[in-house]
Amino acid sequence: MEGIRIEGLRKRYGAGDTAVDALKDVNLTVAAGEVVGLIGPSGSGKSTLLKCLGAVVEPSGGRMTLGGQVIYDDGWKLADLRALRRDSIGFVFQAPYLIPFLDVTDNVALLPMLAGRPNGEARRRALELLQALDVGHRAKAQPSELSGGEQQRVSIARALANRPPVILADEPTAPLDSERALAVVRILEDMAARHRTAIIVVTHDEKIIPTFKRIYHIRDGRTYEEAGEGRRLEEGVPS
Ligand SMILES: Nc1ncnc2c1ncn2[C@@H]1O[C@H](COP(=O)(O)OP(=O)(O)OP(=O)(O)O)[C@@H](O)[C@H]1O
Ligand SMILES: [Mg+2]
Repeated sequence: MEGIRIEGLRKRYGAGDTAVDALKDVNLTVAAGEVVGLIGPSGSGKSTLLKCLGAVVEPSGGRMTLGGQVIYDDGWKLADLRALRRDSIGFVFQAPYLIPFLDVTDNVALLPMLAGRPNGEARRRALELLQALDVGHRAKAQPSELSGGEQQRVSIARALANRPPVILADEPTAPLDSERALAVVRILEDMAARHRTAIIVVTHDEKIIPTFKRIYHIRDGRTYEEAGEGRRLEEGVPS
């Protein structure tokens, strides 16, 4: 299938007495065009799962398929993991890592530029995304001049800039007020619907949990699926 499929994924950090089994049996699918929630207590393995999918951390076993391509089956099945990270995965990290010496626009435009887009076009698209996320007025600022919530919105714009087929978002709305948190979910849903993106959102955020149609719970390294409320968001997508 298109989208994401994970089967029997395991991850052990370290070895011997100090080994930690962060993922024991993770099973999950996200169709192209779908946004699913991933919820679980601190230490349950959420970030580890996203890092495995994003090829930042090597799993210990199991299978991962992205866009119909098996990328991991008890070992990486791709030679070029950097290309996978650059071209296929948009990552919104738990803490926003912006490049301190680039202004806000260039932080967002950088990946599309590296992927070969003309600079002007990449910056225009960056500005559109920043405006949709309500930080367009800070486009020329340096990251150090932004509030925590503004930095987070810039890092969301950056993850969307390359229109990757997969977006992995780790607590993307935690520092945001409800209106802006819901705006972020609307942008992600719009992105999923328009570009057939498969999106996983890790969250504890009570404001956005009711918006998911499907939710996976993770406890102690194991996943459990649940139908969400899929409450319709009232407003349209910010233009
Ligand atoms: N690099 C690492 N080395 C060793 N153990 C790790 C490493 N990263 C995470 N762990 C352990 O793996 C388990 C899962 O961690 P993970 O960061 O995936 O949890 P989480 O669900 O994202 O938690 P939180 O909600 O607090 O972010 C924890 O017990 C954690 O201590
Ligand atoms: Mg985490």
